[in-house]
Amino acid sequence: MKRIGTLLLVAASMLNAGWALAEQDSRMKVVVDEFGKLVDGRGVDRYTIENSSGASIQLTNLGAVILSLKVPDKKGKLDDVVLGFDEPAPYLTDSPYFGAVVGRYANRIDEGEFSLNGNNYSLATNNDQNHLHGGNLGFDKLLWDGQVVETDLGTGVRFSTVSDDGDEGYPGQLFVAVTYVFTDDNALEINYQSSAVDDTVVNLSQHSYFNLAGQGDGSILDHTLQINADFYTPVDRTLIPTGEILSVKQTPFDFTQPKPIGRDIKAKHEQLSFGGGYDHNWVLRRSEFEGQMHLAAVLTDPGSGRKMEVLTDQPGLQFYSGNFLDGSVTGKEGVAYAYRGALALETQHYPDSPNQPHFPRTTLRGGESFTTTTIYRFSVVN
Ligand code: BGC
Repeated sequence: MKRIGTLLLVAASMLNAGWALAEQDSRMKVVVDEFGKLVDGRGVDRYTIENSSGASIQLTNLGAVILSLKVPDKKGKLDDVVLGFDEPAPYLTDSPYFGAVVGRYANRIDEGEFSLNGNNYSLATNNDQNHLHGGNLGFDKLLWDGQVVETDLGTGVRFSTVSDDGDEGYPGQLFVAVTYVFTDDNALEINYQSSAVDDTVVNLSQHSYFNLAGQGDGSILDHTLQINADFYTPVDRTLIPTGEILSVKQTPFDFTQPKPIGRDIKAKHEQLSFGGGYDHNWVLRRSEFEGQMHLAAVLTDPGSGRKMEVLTDQPGLQFYSGNFLDGSVTGKEGVAYAYRGALALETQHYPDSPNQPHFPRTTLRGGESFTTTTIYRFSVVN
């Protein structure tokens, strides 16, 4: 992991390095209002950023969730391309992580067990016998502190929170900040910063469910996907990596050239049967870009012409084809979200890395920090 200094330096850099306060904002307007209340009475904020072309994003401090993302199609029509809810309460009860920041460890840890510095840790197990996306009270369920910020790229919102030593079984207190910036050219830049008091493990990701035709509009099987990865990490039947790193060549996992998602999803392949479709980590091609931003994936919807590029400095990408969506969750505007009605492209470190010594490390040492950036960039093709 990238380490950039001591905790104090980190705290200072989180306040200063290019991120100034909202009062200096002159470029883009952020409207802050109340999204609603949780059943325990706590108020939840909503932040709306509209750029000069009229495209917009809505965020909330509940789970640092992306509530909506309205971008133009090839005719200029704006549609909301992410799944979600119209009110806060279902985000705590019914949400398969719609739009949320997931952590402290995104993805799965085998039986919730790992060891660090010779100590064994048992995390909450919330996905059968495994730990998933931070446990029962993961970062997706926290009320974060929100602040409007002006950055070099544009106006954004910074959410921060503190995860205490022992939360969900994790060792060491951890400070986390996630900053979203939505630019005039329809790029959503997400910057994650975390700093540890004592040694711990960290893996943060964004869990938006995208449907580029518009949320609730059919399945994503006609979307075309390209992933810049020659290898993936196969899993066992509980979706924990086996530890192998296998070539995608001549398998349904080959997205090195753009391919409709539906083309091979029903192929007879053990890995597809374990995932119920695609639910795997791709090993991003990045040797020549180590630690730098690179194009990880390109998603296109031929019908609307919307295109989304995913850029990141992370080593892995979980492509989840919405296999557990089954029409039972009703979301925004009363839409029942259909089987494979959306997909997630989660930039991250590989699943279960704390138990896989040959995977890129996810240990964050006490007094050190980790910073990572992912961009979802929207445009149109004809
Ligand atoms: C996982 C899926 C899981 C989904 C929602 C994805 O990141 O890979 O297996 O069902 O999150 O929990």
